[in-house]
Amino acid sequence: MLYDIARPLLFSLDPEDAHELALHALHYAGKLLPPAKPAPATPVEVMGLTFPNRIGLAAGLDKNGEAIDGLAHMGFGFIEIGTITPRAQPGNPRPRMFRLPEARAIINRMGFNNHGVDVLIAHVRAAKYRGILGINIGKNFDTPIERAADDYLACLDKVYPLASYVTVNISSPNTKNLRQLQGESELDDLLGRLKAAQTRLADTYGRYVPLTLKIAPDLDEPQVINIADALRRHRIDGVIATNTTIARDKVQGLRHGNEQGGLSGAPVLEASTTVVRQLAQALGGELPIIAAGGVLEGADARAKLQAGAVLVQLYSGLIYRGPALVRECVRATADQPG
Ligand code: FNR
Repeated sequence: MLYDIARPLLFSLDPEDAHELALHALHYAGKLLPPAKPAPATPVEVMGLTFPNRIGLAAGLDKNGEAIDGLAHMGFGFIEIGTITPRAQPGNPRPRMFRLPEARAIINRMGFNNHGVDVLIAHVRAAKYRGILGINIGKNFDTPIERAADDYLACLDKVYPLASYVTVNISSPNTKNLRQLQGESELDDLLGRLKAAQTRLADTYGRYVPLTLKIAPDLDEPQVINIADALRRHRIDGVIATNTTIARDKVQGLRHGNEQGGLSGAPVLEASTTVVRQLAQALGGELPIIAAGGVLEGADARAKLQAGAVLVQLYSGLIYRGPALVRECVRATADQPG
């Protein structure tokens, strides 16, 4: 496969340089190639949307929506772009992305580097892609946490007419205090305001755009149950489990194992899947679960469905396995009952 040749080259570069190079290549590939088709499977209906297959791109790989058309050629059933914030911001100083190849893992502390919501919108408008597009929204680093809802609402207003669904990211470990929003009263307030905005926007545009909440793997079961209750109470449409972890027990002693940030890839698989299982139990099928975390092969994607997810997203696995992972996961999940 082409990626077997490309990978040693990419891995010889600084991880963020490799990322930028790959994203540029995908950007130009998307411009040159005709519109892409998703890898075939039995379509599934989730949140009122028809997903051509169960495998999606997780947020953070294409934060500004620069390479949507190129990424679509990998066969994804859906693509999530972002996290985007109201205003452009540079993120944390480099280096801020680290490979841990022995663990098939990544640690990142990017800190929501992005060009701001208006640039993302221009990219989405320019894309040929007509498949399912999730847009993941966040807050600027310098917006006080008590005002966080204002940032989410500002982004929601702007992306609503262009998104198939909108993800509210309150689980990045790299924006100070962000994960506090997962607390009971903070979450209640945030979800209440987002739901009211969604209702208003649905009326304005004559189209209902589902809202999903993305949560961390570093939650205990009572916290997961509280979040599940809040999601139900506010009639949120779906939940993404999970973001990266702050735990380091699985990468002790490895080069870069003690870097600050969020750990993703194989070491987060178990914790993420546990959250999926706990959510499935707490939600009793009322709300769909989108799994992300540590999917490095088809069997991992299938295990996410067995734990109670209906859709699965990939990020770190793509770095280690390349685009072939998408079709492998589509095949491994294509025969699951919907
Ligand atoms: C991420 N992830 C992420 N998530 C999110 O909601 N917004 C974001 O901006 C980012 N940014 C980001 C950057 C980098 C470099 C990585 C590796 C990850 C988290 C990602 O979407 C996913 O939830 C986790 O990485 C777990 O899945 P994997 O990577 O183990 O498949």
